[in-house]
Amino acid sequence: MAAIRPRSELPAGHVVLAPSILSADFADLGAEVDRVSHDADWIHVDVMDGQFVPNITIGMPVVKALRRRTALPLDVHLMVADPGRFVEAFAEAGADLLTVHVEACVHLHRVVQSIHALGMRAGVSLNPATPLSAVEEILPDVDLVLLMSVNPGFGGQQYIPAVTEKVAALHRMMERRGISAYIEIDGGISVKNAREVVAAGVDAIVAGNSVFAAADPVAALKALRAAAVTGR
Ligand code: DX5
Ligand code: ZN
Repeated sequence: MAAIRPRSELPAGHVVLAPSILSADFADLGAEVDRVSHDADWIHVDVMDGQFVPNITIGMPVVKALRRRTALPLDVHLMVADPGRFVEAFAEAGADLLTVHVEACVHLHRVVQSIHALGMRAGVSLNPATPLSAVEEILPDVDLVLLMSVNPGFGGQQYIPAVTEKVAALHRMMERRGISAYIEIDGGISVKNAREVVAAGVDAIVAGNSVFAAADPVAALKALRAAAVTGR
């Protein structure tokens, strides 16, 4: 299993970049991941079930295949109903960080505990309209909070501008309480808004369309990093 260091060990000035394979060529997935490996920190894998979100993507077999292919940590984003059912299966497949939606969990604390018990980092995600109060009590127990900056389900959507203030508010909430967890953002991030979200408090950026739909994904990733670090 690749290692995801705790947020407290993130070098000052570094921004984690997690390209989302949702916008990659699935018929050539190994090569797509290899291509960005040198410039990426984590690989973001979007799992959708057609129930929690109106789209279906991939599951454990693809995570397992990626685990054999890359040494980079696998950042697995579960957009599925009742994700607690699949925690063990994703641990076995080789996920390093497993993120579940608070909207999909009746017993969120139990799900987070089970993710940790299986040796993975635990993330919780909020849809754009879900208030930060939904994660207030779980904050000390998680490694990462993923703020969705589009409505989950599809790549290539427009960034929802109000999420920048939500990032800042989450950052303040964590500082106030002395909590160190990653703030990750997902949806509509490109060179145009990377600086803004990092300045607001983002540590980890997910980028699908702006990387894999670019003519040169490596150049796109380098440009994204250059833009992101100016916000630190
Ligand atoms: C959307 C997914 C995202 C998606 C982001 O539901 O969770 O990870 O791949 O794609 P872009 O960067 O294209 O908005
Ligand atoms: Zn995602």
